[in-house]
Amino acid sequence: MRLFGALLLLGSCAHVAPVNEAATLRFFENGADRGAFTLAQLRAQVPEETVSGFDPYYQRPKRWRALPLEPVLRLAFPSSQLATEEFTLRALDGYTVPISGARLLEGGAYLAFSDADGAWEPIGARRADPGPWYLVWKGGKQLDLTTHPRPWALASLSIEPFEAVFPLVVPRSKDPRVQQGFVLFRQQCVKCHAINQQGGSVGPELNVPKNVTEYRDEAFLRAWIRNPFTFRISVMPPSPQLTEDELSALLAYLAAMRDQKIDVAPGGH
Ligand code: HEC
Repeated sequence: MRLFGALLLLGSCAHVAPVNEAATLRFFENGADRGAFTLAQLRAQVPEETVSGFDPYYQRPKRWRALPLEPVLRLAFPSSQLATEEFTLRALDGYTVPISGARLLEGGAYLAFSDADGAWEPIGARRADPGPWYLVWKGGKQLDLTTHPRPWALASLSIEPFEAVFPLVVPRSKDPRVQQGFVLFRQQCVKCHAINQQGGSVGPELNVPKNVTEYRDEAFLRAWIRNPFTFRISVMPPSPQLTEDELSALLAYLAAMRDQKIDVAPGGH
């Protein structure tokens, strides 16, 4: 009878996939390593929650086992103001997301460490593994991936100003068009694209050895950035929200970076 009970219990839990207690998340503060925490260590201090909500990548409601982000950040950076800092989130594949502390702390951000209904479900066009950590947002209004990014395979969270992380992406030009384009690029593009080999590596480098405005014409670039899917199946998301004016600013920024190339040998490094 007892054995039967135990089996029943096992049976009812079988759909809950085992979690990787040794999964780590690393923290840096202005270049200094603030250490890594395992899931077991974090869970001992921050109670896990089951978070549910619509997910823009899966395009349907999902449920996760997750830790609220804010107490995790307070644990990792006990003497920091957090809300006034700038953060960089890095994924295992090099995906790099700059994001403000104010955004991260607005409420609703969670570090998912497992699907609540079974094993991790592959995510994105390349069917990637979302683990060990997938940043999710709980709120029904937090679905826009440009304002509320959801990096998967998250490896580290760092406090570091953008200029310190990617100095070679910052334009020297003070032209307001260029500056406006830089702000957009920083919010929406640098997580996937590098300029002068700094930035994300999901998409191609856009400045060296050739700046993209040197081999692609303006009409193509406008149409491509607005909606890459009209050209080919792509990992690059469409940006239908960008106005013509914002597209001009983005192109002004890209063109300005022609004059700020770092030296790289074509075809090598
Ligand atoms: C999720 C990652 C991602 C984001 C975000 C992203 N891109 Fe891309 N981008 C790519 C990838 C991947 C390619 C390679 C082309 C392909 O997918 O076929 C690409 C290609 C490009 C190209 C080159 C097109 C060509 O064929 O020469 C340009 C220009 C470009 N992106 C600009 C941008 C701009 C500007 C933004 C921000 C508004 C942006 N991208 C945001 C992933 C991204």
